[in-house]
Formats: sequence, structure tokens, C-alpha cells
Amino acid sequence: MCGIVAYVGQKEAYPIILKGLKRLEYRGYDSAGVALLDEKGLNVYKKQGKVAELEEHLIGKALPAHIGIGHTRWATHGEPSDRNAHPHMSKSGKLAMIHNGIIENYAQLKQDLIKKGYVFKSDTDTEVLLNFIEDIWINNNCELEEAVRIALKRVVGAYVIVLLDADQPDTLIAARKGSPLVIGIGKGEHFLASDASPIIEYTKEVVYVNDYELAILKPDELILKNLGNEKITPFVQKLDMELAAIEKGGFDHFMIKEIFEQSETIYDCLRGRLDAEKGTIKMSGVENNMERFIHAQRIIMVACGTSWHAGLVAEYIFEELCRIPVEVEYASEFRYRNPVIHKGDIIMAISQSGETADTLVAIEKAKEQGAIIFGILNVVGSSIARASHAGAYTHAGPEIGVASTKAFTAQLTVLTMVALRIAIEKKTITHDRYMHLLNELHEVPAKVEATLKLSESIKAVAAKYADAKDMLYLGRGYNFPVALEGALKLKEISYIHAEGYPAAEMKHGPIALVDETLPVVFVATKDSYHEKIVSNMQEIKARKGKVIAVITEGDEVITGLADDVIAIPEADELIAPIISVIPMQLLAYYIGVLKGYDVDKPRNLAKSVTVE
Ligand code: G6P
Repeated sequence: MCGIVAYVGQKEAYPIILKGLKRLEYRGYDSAGVALLDEKGLNVYKKQGKVAELEEHLIGKALPAHIGIGHTRWATHGEPSDRNAHPHMSKSGKLAMIHNGIIENYAQLKQDLIKKGYVFKSDTDTEVLLNFIEDIWINNNCELEEAVRIALKRVVGAYVIVLLDADQPDTLIAARKGSPLVIGIGKGEHFLASDASPIIEYTKEVVYVNDYELAILKPDELILKNLGNEKITPFVQKLDMELAAIEKGGFDHFMIKEIFEQSETIYDCLRGRLDAEKGTIKMSGVENNMERFIHAQRIIMVACGTSWHAGLVAEYIFEELCRIPVEVEYASEFRYRNPVIHKGDIIMAISQSGETADTLVAIEKAKEQGAIIFGILNVVGSSIARASHAGAYTHAGPEIGVASTKAFTAQLTVLTMVALRIAIEKKTITHDRYMHLLNELHEVPAKVEATLKLSESIKAVAAKYADAKDMLYLGRGYNFPVALEGALKLKEISYIHAEGYPAAEMKHGPIALVDETLPVVFVATKDSYHEKIVSNMQEIKARKGKVIAVITEGDEVITGLADDVIAIPEADELIAPIISVIPMQLLAYYIGVLKGYDVDKPRNLAKSVTVE
């Protein structure tokens, strides 16, 4: 949550920071601000609302600074407002700071500071941490970086902070624990950001800062230290990302661009790994740990949000193909209870961003108890990637729309390949079924392409139901998690209350909601439960509910029964979710757009949830 950008160098800092903040808005967008230091001094400008409002506010202002920090906020402590927006200024007015994370012991620190005469202008934990640093700085009469180090040793929580000192016009000080931070190395300039997207057009040389590290940046110098004041050699990496990947490319929104990218991203995910003709799947992360997988007593999928739904589909797939018991856990629950973890249990951490705080802490906890961590991740070099023993990347490219789409289908693709690779080695699948499923996977990009061609008819369905107050999503077997995902997408984007349910479980409660005003979306592609789900559909129709059904092409039975059908290409039931989820994404997208909402930045949400 919260995006941070900072610059020090020869160029004007404000345009670089502003552009960077726009790229990071997916991380939070309830207020934004910048602090700029020039010959006339340190100035802070901040505004409630999106980055565009800050931009508007600053139009026509001379902002000649060559050093500055910027922030786009997702509120934790204190409502979204101008005064709670970052950067915050210290009591003396000499320091400005931005922060991403949560300082858990801020209340105690605040009380101590109030006793010393500090007065706070905001409700944030950030202003407390900043003044805590300043207090140490003044009392110890030390260097600012020393004060930061002392303060951070006493702080509980997660943070990336960046400080600007009015008396050091060429220096930025940053530190990280638990939230992401990337340094970009340019010629006579340095950049700092929550991810590489604000940096990519200036340099491809980056350093990912680790937990408990402090960075001191000047135009020509980068010093990295640990909290013990020992220097660390920065590990410089080359960014493997193109600018085009993070721009809208002619689409109205990132979300629809990313939905339409899916035939390509799934292809990228399969490329170099799956050879359907030869019958091979190459995944070094799996191969290097094959013995562990073969003897695993249990796999625990740990994830949040949409990634958790991918874990649910994977539960069905792994149990079917590999005969390994699977549990699927919400990371936020898993980390706080006392789960039974045996040495050798495999934890699969599924995460698009690789930065979700609950997932990160959950795997660290499991690691301490001897579990092997296997990451299914999209962002290379992310915190969860670095905390994992092994894994497989999803190669979906940067996902910017807050509601996850292409990351989900890429996760399913990778998870299916992992399961197949283990199953053939473990001999829990017949050769014929293995070859059949490889072929099916190979055909997914083309079937996704065909499904995307239905977008206009899905738009028409969306128009019909856009005024619904509630919606129910039902599915069985492999399509049950798809129903959950469909309901989640609708809630996120259109603010319509929606619930996903196993179709048969519906009669134990949700059926009471059914009347002629309730649209019910069935994910009812041809599978082994087909007749059963047709019966569930009858039950809804008998109570005058409206049925929208996602079906397999040529399914006359449901076509005759449902009010609206979306017919998608036939696929094996195990593979079907990768395709059947696409109409769910499109339906939510079009309803959200019709209702006039900002689908890329739905209210109250953030893409990367780096607070617990
Ligand atoms: C947020 C996003 C969701 C995402 C979830 C988990 O809630 O809005 O789209 O599914 O976090 O994120 P992750 O990056 O761990 O997959």
C-alpha cells in the first residue's frame, strides 16, 4: 500500500516524481504529495484525492528542485485528507519524510513525544516516526543516518521511509523493512521507488533493497548499509521490463487491456516450458525439488484475494493429479493461528505482486518450522520471491489494474503445469491423460482468444444487469472457485454486492434470496457435474431468478433454460477455469464502466497490500 518515488540528480525532480506517482497509483490513491528542495528551501505540496489533483494544484508553479520525494497514499492511520497526506514535516521543519507501511508501536512513541512537547498536525504513524527520528537526531547530536538507524531499531512494524533534509540538498536517506524498495542507478542521478515502473524509462540498472538496510543516495554515490552501520555491496540487476508493458496501449483502462492480453500472457507462461508434441514440461524449480514433491505429505497453498482463488482451483488439480493432500489458507488467518506444520511440508505462496504482507509473513513463519516455500509469483525479485526456496514465475508482465485478471489465469496455467510435471514423475497420472492435458494446455491461448471475441455480447449482458443490487455466482468442482472469483471481480469493480457459492450448497441459505430481481451467474461448462448443475439451475428458475450461464459451445440444454448464455470453447474440466473466468472478468468490467466507476482504481482498494 502506498507508492513512493524519490529523485536526486541533475534533472528537474518534480516531473519525474509526478510521472512515477501516476504509475504507482495502483498502490493507493486517496491522497498524494511531494516535497521538493531547492535553493529557496524545502517545500511540501499535498492534496487529498488522486495524483491528478495534486498535479492540477501545482500547475503553473515554478518547481526547479533537483531533489525530491513523492507519495501516493492508501490510508491506514487517519482518514484521507490533505493534512494526513505525505510527505510529513518534522517539528523543526528541517526534515520531510514519506512512508509506506505501518508503525505498530506508534501510539507509545507518540505519547512519549507529546510529553516532550511535540505537537502533531496529522493522525498518521508516519509523523510520529519522523519526529521520533528528529528527536534522536537533536538529542544525540549525531548524523541523520545514525538517528534513523537508532530509531528503526526501536520501531515495530513495516516500513519503507525516505527522508529529505533541508540542510543536505544532495542526499536522500531511505530504509526498508517489510515493504518494497527499488533503487534506480542513472548517470549522475539516483531514483527510489516502490517498484521499477517509475524508473524504467531512465535506467535499467536497479538494486532491490533488503529488509533492515539503509540507503544513502547522492547524485554520484550510492551507499548501502545495514542497521549495524556496516557497508553492504549493492547487488546491481538489469531490469527485464519494457516501458510499453506499463502503458495503456490504446485501451480505455488497464483492466481491459490486461483482460485482452491474456491469450498472449498465457502463451508466454507456457513458452519454453510446455512441449505438447514431445510430452515434456520443463520447470527447473520443480525439477530441482522433485524428491521433495514426490514425498510431500501435504501441500499448503497460502495466498490472499484472487491469488487465494487460484489456490482453490489448484487444490482440486493437485489432489486429482498428484494425489497429495492440499490445504488452501488465507495468509492472514494462517499467520496468526498456530498451524501444524511438519518438516517437509510444501507451502505454495501464490501472489501476483510478491509483496502482500500477510503472505510474506505467513511463509516466513512456516519456514521457521521447517516447511519448504515454493513461490508462484509474477513480480521477479519481489520480497516473496526472495523469501522462497524455489518457485515458478507466471510471466504475465506488469499488472496495473487493481482487480487482478491476467495474473490469475497465469497462476492457473503455472499451477497446472507444476501439478502435471509432478504427476508424471510420481506416476499418479496415466500417460494418455497426461498427453491429453498437455494438448489442452497448448490450446488454451487460442481458446482464450475465441472467448475474448465474445466481449460485445458480454457487454450487452452487462447492460441488462447493471442495476442489480445483489448477484449470486454459482459453480461446482473446478468451476466453484471461478464463481468465487466472478463474485469478487463484480464487488471490486462495480460495488454490487455479490456472493460466490458452490452451486449445490446454495440450497442451504442463499436460495432464500432468490426472486425475480436476483441475477444468478452459473459457471456451468461441460464437466462431470453437468447434470447436477442443470438441476441447480432449475431450482433457481423455479423461484423466478434470472440465470446468466457460462456454458460450453453447443450446450442446447442450458441454452433452453437460461435467460442469457455466454458460450465458450470446449475444454477439459481441469483446464476450463482458465477460460471460464474470462467472461466473469468482462462482465464485471463492463458493469463497472456502465456505472461510471474508475475500474482501474476502485474505491478503498489497493493492488499491493503491504500492510496486514
Ligand atoms: C489485493 C488486490 C487483489 C489481489 C490481492 C492479493 O487485494 O486488490 O487483486 O488478488 O491483493 O495480491 P497478490 O499480489 O498477493 O496476489
